[in-house]
Amino acid sequence: MRADMPGRMSLDDFRHEALAEVGSTNTECLERARKGALSGLWITAGRQTGGRGRRGRAWFSEPGNLYASLLLIDPAPMERLGSLPLAVAVAVQEAVSRIMPLDSPDVLIKWPNDILIDRRKICGILIEGETLADGRHAVVIGCGINVAVAPEAGLYPVATLRGFGASASPDELFAWLFRSMAETLALWNRGRGISAVMERWKSVAGGIGENITVNLPDRSISGRFAGIDDTGLLKLETDDGGTRLIAAGDVFFG
Ligand code: BTN
Repeated sequence: MRADMPGRMSLDDFRHEALAEVGSTNTECLERARKGALSGLWITAGRQTGGRGRRGRAWFSEPGNLYASLLLIDPAPMERLGSLPLAVAVAVQEAVSRIMPLDSPDVLIKWPNDILIDRRKICGILIEGETLADGRHAVVIGCGINVAVAPEAGLYPVATLRGFGASASPDELFAWLFRSMAETLALWNRGRGISAVMERWKSVAGGIGENITVNLPDRSISGRFAGIDDTGLLKLETDDGGTRLIAAGDVFFG
């Protein structure tokens, strides 16, 4: 894709490098970006020695799961980047659904972009960005999917795809992710296609209409999950009758 004429990405814009082991596929993508790598580079690893989760948490990264990061350069104007997490969640939900047996419980998205089966977390997504020395903006989308092994439950209950009867390997799942991410990013269209992405997001979102608690960095608030606004912010109806818009936080059902 030409940087001077950015347009919709297609399958041909993506390439893949598979590593046996790395500290973190997200960190590796950011390092490649600093050295001039082009947009569309996927890096996967069989194992990570320093896998990173949200809010500085470590991410369990033993062999058997999928650890994959995608580097994008200038994927959208800054004001439209906020909707990228929703597009990413739609792509991952689609890829995971492809390999699940028909009798498995639904694969659902928990706002903004955790993926759950039977209300248990099977995937985490960490999106990071950095302005490069030449002024371009690098964005890395990191996905950790519990294919065969799961960590001890921490903040959330966790599960593996194997536990729900999926027999696909991490490589087979990645092949689906490669395709679904390219298709969803094309639909997202540098943020211009957010309404179409949001329709898909809502059709596979869990918990809309239910009572939830959102942990913010400094406090927790509870209320009814009323959906998302047209920029992807979570709408929380609180007991005082008001509606709060939330940009980031950990959501708990019930
Ligand atoms: C979360 O805390 O839910 C997000 C976890 C993201 C983990 C993935 S694994 C591949 C990529 N590399 C990392 O170091 N983190 C992400």
